[in-house]
Amino acid sequence: MRTFLAIDLNDEIRHAYAELYERGRRYDGLRWVLPQNLHITLRFLGAIDPERTAPLASDVEAEIAHLVPFRMTIGAPGSFGPCDHPRVLWFGVGFGTRALRQLARQVERAARRSGFPKERRPWRPHLTVARNPRRVRMDGWQELTGDCKLAGLSQNVENVTLYSSTLRPGERPVYSPVWRLTLKTK
Ligand code: 2AM
Repeated sequence: MRTFLAIDLNDEIRHAYAELYERGRRYDGLRWVLPQNLHITLRFLGAIDPERTAPLASDVEAEIAHLVPFRMTIGAPGSFGPCDHPRVLWFGVGFGTRALRQLARQVERAARRSGFPKERRPWRPHLTVARNPRRVRMDGWQELTGDCKLAGLSQNVENVTLYSSTLRPGERPVYSPVWRLTLKTK
Protein backbone atom coordinates (compact mmCIF):
# COMPACT_ATOMS: atom_id res chain seq x y z
CA MET A 1 0.00 0.00 0.00
CA ARG A 2 1.54 3.30 -1.18
CA THR A 3 0.75 6.03 1.33
CA PHE A 4 1.30 9.63 2.37
CA LEU A 5 0.11 11.95 5.13
CA ALA A 6 -1.53 15.17 3.99
CA ILE A 7 -3.92 17.98 4.75
CA ASP A 8 -7.07 18.46 2.69
CA LEU A 9 -8.12 21.72 1.09
CA ASN A 10 -11.55 23.30 1.55
CA ASP A 11 -14.22 23.68 -1.15
CA GLU A 12 -13.42 27.32 -1.89
CA ILE A 13 -9.79 26.44 -2.66
CA ARG A 14 -10.81 23.40 -4.69
CA HIS A 15 -13.25 25.47 -6.76
CA ALA A 16 -10.64 28.16 -7.47
CA TYR A 17 -8.26 25.40 -8.48
CA ALA A 18 -10.89 23.69 -10.68
CA GLU A 19 -11.09 26.90 -12.70
CA LEU A 20 -7.29 26.97 -13.15
CA TYR A 21 -7.43 23.27 -14.06
CA GLU A 22 -9.91 23.99 -16.87
CA ARG A 23 -7.80 26.81 -18.30
CA GLY A 24 -4.52 24.96 -17.82
CA ARG A 25 -5.52 21.89 -19.76
CA ARG A 26 -4.68 23.61 -23.04
CA TYR A 27 -0.97 23.38 -22.15
CA ASP A 28 0.20 20.20 -23.81
CA GLY A 29 2.44 17.95 -21.82
CA LEU A 30 1.43 19.10 -18.34
CA ARG A 31 -0.27 16.61 -16.03
CA TRP A 32 -2.69 18.61 -13.90
CA VAL A 33 -3.73 17.30 -10.50
CA LEU A 34 -7.42 16.35 -10.55
CA PRO A 35 -9.35 18.86 -8.39
CA GLN A 36 -10.54 16.05 -6.10
CA ASN A 37 -6.89 15.02 -5.53
CA LEU A 38 -5.67 18.43 -4.33
CA HIS A 39 -3.74 18.24 -1.03
CA ILE A 40 -0.62 19.42 0.78
CA THR A 41 1.71 16.57 1.69
CA LEU A 42 3.05 16.51 5.22
CA ARG A 43 5.03 13.29 4.84
CA PHE A 44 5.37 10.83 1.97
CA LEU A 45 5.62 7.32 3.45
CA GLY A 46 5.82 5.11 0.36
CA ALA A 47 4.88 1.44 0.45
CA ILE A 48 3.71 0.18 3.83
CA ASP A 49 2.11 -2.94 5.18
CA PRO A 50 -1.63 -2.18 5.76
CA GLU A 51 -1.23 -3.56 9.28
CA ARG A 52 0.99 -0.62 10.14
CA THR A 53 -1.67 2.02 9.42
CA ALA A 54 -3.54 1.64 12.75
CA PRO A 55 -0.41 1.93 14.96
CA LEU A 56 0.67 4.87 12.81
CA ALA A 57 -2.65 6.60 13.58
CA SER A 58 -1.96 6.20 17.33
CA ASP A 59 1.55 7.60 16.90
CA VAL A 60 0.32 10.60 14.90
CA GLU A 61 -2.46 11.20 17.43
CA ALA A 62 0.04 11.22 20.29
CA GLU A 63 2.40 13.61 18.49
CA ILE A 64 -0.25 16.13 17.43
CA ALA A 65 -2.17 16.04 20.74
CA HIS A 66 -0.85 19.46 21.82
CA LEU A 67 -1.55 21.19 18.48
CA VAL A 68 -4.72 23.18 17.86
CA PRO A 69 -6.42 24.02 14.52
CA PHE A 70 -4.95 27.01 12.72
CA ARG A 71 -5.60 29.30 9.77
CA MET A 72 -3.56 28.97 6.60
CA THR A 73 -3.54 30.95 3.35
CA ILE A 74 -2.46 29.81 -0.08
CA GLY A 75 0.66 31.70 -1.09
CA ALA A 76 2.32 32.68 -4.35
CA PRO A 77 2.78 30.35 -7.32
CA GLY A 78 6.16 28.80 -7.91
CA SER A 79 7.91 25.87 -9.52
CA PHE A 80 10.58 23.24 -8.94
CA GLY A 81 13.17 22.96 -11.67
CA PRO A 82 14.22 25.57 -14.24
CA CYS A 83 11.59 28.33 -14.73
CA ASP A 84 11.18 27.71 -18.46
CA HIS A 85 11.07 23.89 -18.14
CA PRO A 86 9.73 23.31 -14.63
CA ARG A 87 9.33 19.85 -13.18
CA VAL A 88 6.47 20.71 -10.82
CA LEU A 89 4.15 23.74 -10.68
CA TRP A 90 2.79 24.64 -7.26
CA PHE A 91 1.40 27.28 -4.95
CA GLY A 92 3.21 28.03 -1.70
CA VAL A 93 1.76 28.66 1.73
CA GLY A 94 1.48 32.23 3.02
CA PHE A 95 0.02 32.88 6.46
CA GLY A 96 0.19 29.79 8.67
CA THR A 97 3.50 28.46 7.36
CA ARG A 98 4.98 28.23 10.86
CA ALA A 99 2.05 26.28 12.25
CA LEU A 100 2.03 24.01 9.20
CA ARG A 101 5.77 23.41 9.57
CA GLN A 102 5.21 22.53 13.23
CA LEU A 103 2.49 20.08 12.19
CA ALA A 104 4.82 18.51 9.59
CA ARG A 105 7.56 18.24 12.24
CA GLN A 106 5.21 16.41 14.64
CA VAL A 107 4.06 14.12 11.82
CA GLU A 108 7.70 13.35 11.03
CA ARG A 109 8.25 12.47 14.72
CA ALA A 110 5.24 10.17 14.58
CA ALA A 111 6.59 8.49 11.43
CA ARG A 112 9.93 7.90 13.18
CA ARG A 113 8.13 6.55 16.25
CA SER A 114 6.29 4.18 13.89
CA GLY A 115 9.57 2.89 12.50
CA PHE A 116 9.94 4.90 9.29
CA PRO A 117 13.44 6.07 8.46
CA LYS A 118 14.22 9.77 8.84
CA GLU A 119 13.09 11.86 5.87
CA ARG A 120 16.30 13.11 4.27
CA ARG A 121 14.79 15.73 1.99
CA PRO A 122 13.86 19.06 3.57
CA TRP A 123 10.11 19.58 3.82
CA ARG A 124 8.92 22.37 1.53
CA PRO A 125 5.28 23.31 2.03
CA HIS A 126 3.60 23.41 -1.37
CA LEU A 127 0.36 22.65 -3.13
CA THR A 128 1.27 20.80 -6.32
CA VAL A 129 -1.08 21.68 -9.18
CA ALA A 130 0.72 20.25 -12.21
CA ARG A 131 3.64 18.03 -13.14
CA ASN A 132 5.69 18.27 -16.28
CA PRO A 133 6.99 14.74 -16.89
CA ARG A 134 8.31 15.49 -20.38
CA ARG A 135 9.79 18.83 -19.25
CA VAL A 136 8.01 20.73 -22.02
CA ARG A 137 8.66 24.43 -22.34
CA MET A 138 6.28 26.39 -20.11
CA ASP A 139 5.98 30.10 -20.86
CA GLY A 140 2.44 30.73 -19.73
CA TRP A 141 2.65 29.86 -16.02
CA GLN A 142 2.85 33.49 -14.83
CA GLU A 143 0.02 34.59 -17.10
CA LEU A 144 -2.09 31.60 -16.10
CA THR A 145 -1.62 32.13 -12.36
CA GLY A 146 -1.92 35.92 -12.61
CA ASP A 147 -5.64 35.48 -13.36
CA CYS A 148 -6.15 32.74 -10.83
CA LYS A 149 -7.87 33.34 -7.51
CA LEU A 150 -6.05 30.68 -5.50
CA ALA A 151 -3.31 32.80 -3.89
CA GLY A 152 -4.70 34.51 -0.80
CA LEU A 153 -7.56 32.09 -0.18
CA SER A 154 -7.56 30.70 3.33
CA GLN A 155 -8.85 27.80 5.34
CA ASN A 156 -8.70 26.20 8.76
CA VAL A 157 -6.31 23.31 9.08
CA GLU A 158 -8.08 20.81 11.30
CA ASN A 159 -7.20 17.37 9.97
CA VAL A 160 -4.34 15.08 9.12
CA THR A 161 -5.27 12.35 6.65
CA LEU A 162 -3.46 9.17 5.72
CA TYR A 163 -4.03 8.56 2.01
CA SER A 164 -3.37 5.45 0.02
CA SER A 165 -2.41 6.07 -3.57
CA THR A 166 -3.19 3.53 -6.26
CA LEU A 167 -1.18 3.88 -9.44
CA ARG A 168 -2.24 2.29 -12.72
CA PRO A 169 -0.12 2.61 -15.85
CA GLY A 170 -1.27 5.54 -17.98
CA GLU A 171 -3.91 6.64 -15.48
CA ARG A 172 -4.07 9.27 -12.74
CA PRO A 173 -3.38 8.09 -9.22
CA VAL A 174 -6.45 7.40 -7.12
CA TYR A 175 -6.13 8.72 -3.57
CA SER A 176 -8.32 7.16 -0.87
CA PRO A 177 -8.42 8.26 2.76
CA VAL A 178 -7.41 5.44 5.11
CA TRP A 179 -7.98 7.45 8.32
CA ARG A 180 -8.40 11.07 9.31
CA LEU A 181 -7.41 12.64 12.64
CA THR A 182 -8.72 15.96 13.93
CA LEU A 183 -6.74 18.67 15.69
CA LYS A 184 -8.68 19.54 18.82
CA THR A 185 -9.41 23.01 20.18
CA LYS A 186 -8.24 23.05 23.79
P1 2AM B 1 4.57 16.43 -4.89
O1 2AM B 1 3.20 17.00 -4.87
O2 2AM B 1 5.62 17.44 -4.64
O3 2AM B 1 4.83 15.56 -6.09
C1 2AM B 1 1.64 11.77 -3.42
O4 2AM B 1 2.53 11.34 -4.40
C2 2AM B 1 2.18 12.97 -2.68
O5 2AM B 1 3.39 12.62 -2.00
C3 2AM B 1 2.50 14.16 -3.58
O6 2AM B 1 1.98 15.32 -2.98
C4 2AM B 1 4.01 14.19 -3.63
O7 2AM B 1 4.59 15.45 -3.63
C5 2AM B 1 4.39 13.57 -2.31
N1 2AM B 1 5.73 12.99 -2.36
C6 2AM B 1 6.79 13.36 -1.62
N2 2AM B 1 7.85 12.60 -1.86
C7 2AM B 1 7.48 11.72 -2.81
C8 2AM B 1 8.15 10.66 -3.49
N3 2AM B 1 9.42 10.34 -3.21
N4 2AM B 1 7.47 9.99 -4.41
C9 2AM B 1 6.19 10.30 -4.70
N5 2AM B 1 5.50 11.27 -4.08
C10 2AM B 1 6.13 11.97 -3.15
